[in-house]
Amino acid sequence: MLKLIAPLCCSALVLLTACTATTTGAVVAGPLRSFQTEVAPIFAKSCAGCHSPGGSGASALTLLDASGQVNYDAARAKAGAIARDVASGEMPKSGPKLSAAQIKLIQDWQATGAQNN
Ligand code: HEC
Repeated sequence: MLKLIAPLCCSALVLLTACTATTTGAVVAGPLRSFQTEVAPIFAKSCAGCHSPGGSGASALTLLDASGQVNYDAARAKAGAIARDVASGEMPKSGPKLSAAQIKLIQDWQATGAQNN
C-alpha cells in the first residue's frame, strides 16, 4: 500500500511546487483565447487609429495592414510588448482605455503562446 501512495504524494508535491512558483508577479496564464474572434477585434477597434500604415505608432508596430486587416505576424512578433504596454496602461496612448477584461484577455493570449487560433 505504501508503495502505491508514495509516488502519488511525490507528484502532488511537484504539482504544489509548480503552482506556488507562479506567485512571483508573473502573469498566470488563463484560458486559451482566440486571436481571430477575441484579440484581433480589440486591436482593430482600439489600436488601428495609430498602428495602421501612416499612423503615429506605425513605425513602432504596424498591427493592421492598409486594408484594415489585423496582421497576425506583426502581433505575434510584438506580443510581449503588447501585453506589457496594455497592462501598464501605456497603450492605447490616447483615447478610450481598455477594460480590465480586455487587458486580461490579451495577457492570456500572450501567456498561452500568442497563437493564431
Ligand atoms: C493614439 C495613438 C495610439 C493608439 C490608439 C495606440 N498606440 Fe501603441 N503606440 C503609439 C505610438 C506613437 C508608439 C511609439 C512609441 C511611443 O511613443 O510610445 C506606440 C508604441 C506601441 C508599442 C511599442 C512597440 C515596441 O516595439 O516596443 C506597442 C506594443 C503598442 N504601441 C501597442 C498598442 C496597442 C496594443 C494598442 C491598442 C490597444 C495601441 N498601441 C494603441 C500610439 C498609439
